[in-house]
Amino acid sequence: MPRSADKKFPPGPSDGAKRWSLGPLNNNPLAYFSKVAREYGDVAGLRILNFRSFFINHPDTIEEVLVTNARRYSKGRVLRANRHVFGEGLLTSEGDFWLRQRRLAQPAFHRARIASYASTMVEYAQRMLERWHDGEERDAHQEMMRLTLQIVGKTLFDADVERDAQDVGKSLELLLEVGANFRRAIFVPNWLPTPANLRVKREIAHIESILYRIISERRASGRDAGDLLSMLLHAQDEDGSRMTDRQLRDETITLFLAGHETTASTLSWTWWLLAQNPVVEARLHAELLAVLGGRAPSLEDVPKLVYTGHVITEALRLYPPAWGTARLALEDHELAGYPVKKGMGVAMAQWVVHRDPRWYDAPEEFRPERWQDDASKRLPRFAYFPFGGGPRQCIGNAFALMEAQLVLATVAQKFRLRLVPGHPVVPLASITLRPRHGIRVVLEARRHGEKGDTVPIAKSAFADD
Ligand code: HEM
Repeated sequence: MPRSADKKFPPGPSDGAKRWSLGPLNNNPLAYFSKVAREYGDVAGLRILNFRSFFINHPDTIEEVLVTNARRYSKGRVLRANRHVFGEGLLTSEGDFWLRQRRLAQPAFHRARIASYASTMVEYAQRMLERWHDGEERDAHQEMMRLTLQIVGKTLFDADVERDAQDVGKSLELLLEVGANFRRAIFVPNWLPTPANLRVKREIAHIESILYRIISERRASGRDAGDLLSMLLHAQDEDGSRMTDRQLRDETITLFLAGHETTASTLSWTWWLLAQNPVVEARLHAELLAVLGGRAPSLEDVPKLVYTGHVITEALRLYPPAWGTARLALEDHELAGYPVKKGMGVAMAQWVVHRDPRWYDAPEEFRPERWQDDASKRLPRFAYFPFGGGPRQCIGNAFALMEAQLVLATVAQKFRLRLVPGHPVVPLASITLRPRHGIRVVLEARRHGEKGDTVPIAKSAFADD
């Protein structure tokens, strides 16, 4: 490899092109990054005006950025541009302040604590099913959004957000959509009174009014509900000071946003993939019958629902809700043989790495079986990273996986979701990866003993798990 002095900046698609042209990146970032990876390999250089960024595609280089050299980076420009939404919450804060908040929040995500959320997750999924009827048409993504918002509200804040769910959901959706626009993130300051900025301001004010209500109700009651909100409310600094309402607002909005749409999208894509893969669906049904036999799942069932887990793992590979990750260099150093200067960006895309044929056979195919026999242990660590990695790894990782598994098991026992023909299902790479027009489905109630329930199970269906 040439010495870094020989290499100044990696070649890339913007060499010689109009550097202010963000068209292809903004219009279809998934196609854009896939093409750049195909054409330039493991490292490419991107230039937007005078902003330079590395686009890296090798798992070992990704590990260097997220883990080994994590302290040399801060979060990327898109997240920073959304600070007016997330404030100094966990996702966007940095340094000692972030570390303190992470330590305060961590107990709410410990395994034992998460275990206590299992019954709430199943209960809310069952409530949703009470509204569902055979033959009805619905938008699976809207249903999943509403469900995961209620679950995060109840488990972390002991707030029944049913009455606010749709409202909050809509505001959050808009914030995510506007916030993911690269052009806006890089060129448009938040104080400029553009129509988009004004709308964002209104939506933030709307969500804030709900969050401040939840916070003040809890403060007034003095009750320790044992949930995340209580932990944050009662947490004390060494000097005895407590969190202000503003800090609490930043953490709650972050957790609502980070914690509901991601899991909803995971489930939505899972329904979409299952509907197109009847063999996988039959195998899933067979496992559910063998393990649950028609009863609702519980925490104890989670480790037994092995194939159900593989289905989620595989959906997260093909449709990672966090489809890309970015960082900014805090100091000069070297990466993949190139000098990185303070202020430069580094971008990586789960979407691209998860579909790289070097790590996955038939990478475009939905094959949950590929995860059996501890297959992940044979992959480079960062060939699969839907939850990121290193110190800024997703705090809600175990929460999300358990929720997705329990909701999938609860719903798939009762209903099949059939795709409405002709409805376009298109991935939209906003801050998260979600279906642009939703996923229209017809609900088909399942009956015990119907075809699919009687697929031979035991050894023949999942002997190799
Ligand atoms: C399938 C669902 C989820 C996915 C794919 C996902 C993905 C991610 C990723 C990739 C990051 C790291 C971002 C970066 O490095 O820049 C992250 C961070 C984070 N996630 Fe998740 N997440 C999910 C669910 C959740 C849930 C359920 C919660 C909370 C209830 C949550 C809360 C957070 C928080 C607070 C952070 C910031 C952590 C920190 O920097 O200390 N996420 N998530």
